[in-house]
Amino acid sequence: MPLYQNLEALHRERKKYLGNQCGLVPTMGALHQGHLALIERAQIENESVWVTIFVNPTQFNNASDLHAYPVSLKEDIEAIHKINPAINIFAPSIKDMYPEEVHAKSHAFNALDTVMEGADRPDHFNGVITIVSKLFEAVQPHYAYFGEKDFQQLQIIKNWVKTTNIPTTIVPCPIIREANGLAMSSRNELLTKTTRAEAGFIYNTLKHCASNGMKKAAIYAHIANAFAKHPAFTLHYALCVDEMTLKEVTEVNAKDNQRIFVATSVEGVRLIDNIALK
Ligand code: PAF
Repeated sequence: MPLYQNLEALHRERKKYLGNQCGLVPTMGALHQGHLALIERAQIENESVWVTIFVNPTQFNNASDLHAYPVSLKEDIEAIHKINPAINIFAPSIKDMYPEEVHAKSHAFNALDTVMEGADRPDHFNGVITIVSKLFEAVQPHYAYFGEKDFQQLQIIKNWVKTTNIPTTIVPCPIIREANGLAMSSRNELLTKTTRAEAGFIYNTLKHCASNGMKKAAIYAHIANAFAKHPAFTLHYALCVDEMTLKEVTEVNAKDNQRIFVATSVEGVRLIDNIALK
């Protein structure tokens, strides 16, 4: 299994591949079916695939969230191995990725970071782009795969790639869900079994709002009512948003590429989800 644990080893291996089909799947580990779907797709679409596993400290805005983040390197390696033992895995140390200070650089995001996760988690997207830029620089991918569960992250990465002329195509991949509809996330591991089962209501609520031709006010009222029935879940926001600008829309219109986004916390775990309006 090709496992590289520092940049020097990665560079030595990366320069052997001279083609134009190198795919990257950046992850923070604790891999679930959602990650594996990204890896499988990268595997189908590229000759050389890199999966990175690194819990990036600069994108966490509270220490307890960072310390609670699940780590399962051995199981992650086994899961990747099952897809294809030739996939390259890069699992560096903090010192390797942040040799000087563990600090996020500031980036300009055309206001895409002023709403939702960006508003609730100051500096989060600076941390994400800081590490994604280091990983892109190291792996030099032609294609990079990101899930639509983190839709705001995906749009910010697309915008960053475009404005900085990075020659990587960003490949968005659909949300993979648990049997009850809960969007797959490494954080789901931190929920008790009962709460994880109850959390299925989030997707059912979004699905109802997205497919019934409801007006914006009716959507917000429906989401508020649904959360009121599940008092353990604190609703941070529910927003109908334009997919490109991430700005709240004045009127809901299924033809205009709009999405409904929610963020909630339960048992100290933050969960996010979104759905396209149909
Ligand atoms: O989506 C994630 O898991 C992380 O934000 C990423 C893109 C791997 C950067 O640390």
